[in-house]
Amino acid sequence: MRELKILAVVVFFTLVTYWGVEPFAHSIMHPHHEPATFTYDDLKPLNKSGDPKRGAEAIMNNGCTGCHGIKAAGIPAPMDPVTASASYGVNPPDLSTAGALYDEKFLANVIKNPVHAMKLEHKFGDAKPFPMPNFYGSDQDLADIVAYLKSIAPKEVTPKDAFVNACGRCHDMKYDNWYVIGPKPKMDTELEKAQFNLKHAQYQANLKKYLGTNPPDLSMYIRSRGHEYIRDFVEDPQKLLHGTAMPRVGLTEESTMKVIEYMEKVGDRKKEKRNSLGPWVLLYFVIFSILAYLWKKKIWSEVL
Ligand code: HEC
Ligand code: HEC
Repeated sequence: MRELKILAVVVFFTLVTYWGVEPFAHSIMHPHHEPATFTYDDLKPLNKSGDPKRGAEAIMNNGCTGCHGIKAAGIPAPMDPVTASASYGVNPPDLSTAGALYDEKFLANVIKNPVHAMKLEHKFGDAKPFPMPNFYGSDQDLADIVAYLKSIAPKEVTPKDAFVNACGRCHDMKYDNWYVIGPKPKMDTELEKAQFNLKHAQYQANLKKYLGTNPPDLSMYIRSRGHEYIRDFVEDPQKLLHGTAMPRVGLTEESTMKVIEYMEKVGDRKKEKRNSLGPWVLLYFVIFSILAYLWKKKIWSEVL
């Protein structure tokens, strides 16, 4: 009887912690916010359908390739990353995958008025112009450019490409050898290593001047922040970190999941192993509990 009372007390306090204390602490540490919808409701939809052929011309006529490479169309980046970051603060991303990564409505809006679409009005304006200019062409030209970017984008973007193209110009992923200036090549001499580190430091300094802070290396963020936070943060950084320097990037839900898949592959390599080990650990406990019980019975049968 006494044992049962002790058990009841232990169960009671365990449940209070589980349902009372833990959720309370959680709600303080992670205040509630609306989950991501990926609808970009605050932006105006594009009401025209575009023509990819005319879009290819519009891209050329509007100077996009003065800053952006488009590998899929055989157009290389006009500058190396460090030079580009000296001019624009950050290396303008290659546009080959833009049509697949970004939500169509967001894409049209970010081309027309990047500061508005990226929610950076608190940082850029007439006094501090944004590096990418607004687009003053017609809505038809805009629809054509979007149609063109969609037409050259691959059907399926790999998780790594999604990360590199959407996040890799600002964030390192050291555990997978990704740096904001590109992957670290195999280097034999100290001089080569010093040169790489110098370039990386120059780029980081330019980023800091541009953003006001250095974006963190994301290798372990999937563990420290978790899926849900990353998904909701990427959809709208301002909602979770008011005044943050990170722009809204405008990914579709699908490409956000790709980025998360990649972050998980890099930051939590052992997850599958851990999950498959779980049932075996439980089995181990069950078997040993039975043995312990049988042993206890045997001992007590000798005593009594
Ligand atoms: C003067 C240089 C410059 C020109 C010209 C320019 N861009 Fe950009 N663009 C940038 C920079 C810099 C960024 C990255 C900004 C950032 O991440 O803060 C960018 C970002 C983008 C993005 C990614 C947006 C996102 O959500 O991450 C797209 C798409 C894009 N540009 C398309 C275009 C198109 C289409 C044109 C032509 C109409 C164009 N750009 C012209 C500099 C330029
Ligand atoms: C134009 C640069 C830029 C791009 C592109 C960018 N980020 Fe960031 N990111 C930042 C900056 C700057 C910070 C630091 C924010 C701060 O401290 O206010 C940040 C912070 C973060 C954080 C940490 C948030 C926290 O709670 O501390 C995560 C996670 C993150 N970014 C994920 C991403 C992902 C995923 C992508 C691609 C989908 C991405 N970022 C694209 C600039 C960028």
